[in-house]
Amino acid sequence: MSDKTPPVLISEDKIAARIVELAEQISADYEEKGGLVLVGVLKGSFIFLADLSRRLRIPRTIEFIAVSSYGSGSVSTGAVRLVMDVRGNIEGKHVLIIEDIVDTGHTLAYLIGILESHRPASIRTCALLHKAEAAQVDVEIDYVGFGIGDEWVVGYGLDFAEKDRTLPYIGVVEPADQ
Ligand code: PRP
Repeated sequence: MSDKTPPVLISEDKIAARIVELAEQISADYEEKGGLVLVGVLKGSFIFLADLSRRLRIPRTIEFIAVSSYGSGSVSTGAVRLVMDVRGNIEGKHVLIIEDIVDTGHTLAYLIGILESHRPASIRTCALLHKAEAAQVDVEIDYVGFGIGDEWVVGYGLDFAEKDRTLPYIGVVEPADQ
């Protein structure tokens, strides 16, 4: 892997503008429901969650959940394991799962199952990025920031072998660097 800066796929400005739109849509949808619990999926969602949550204009609380996928490198085996469950009681609450990216969909499908067992009032899903052509599981994403192609992306929370998570934009890892 080289140390060069990944080329920009989605700029900081575009991300910020889309987050304003998403926050407006989510705020409108949950206004009558009295607020929601944002469940950030570690680690990748931490920056998206921080920015989106601060743009909402409805009552909200924050939880985190952590999973790990078995498999090496960039290839997902589809087997997901719970590493850390939510800490707070979400029974009877409106839950919005916050993901940085939905790729095969295995992680999101697994998370919905885990969170359903806590008997929330509702569960919806929000992903900054959706790689539709990589889908292996039919899982609904209620709020999508950007659809992307089948490229490996980094930055704004996403990593490649833990590298480039804190780039301020979404960049592409070029095939030669994977
Ligand atoms: C990424 C991402 C999603 C998952 C999506 O997490 O944050 O949780 O993969 O992939 P899927 O749709 O194919 O299941 P990753 O395993 O890279 O962990 P990280 O968030 O800690 O980097």
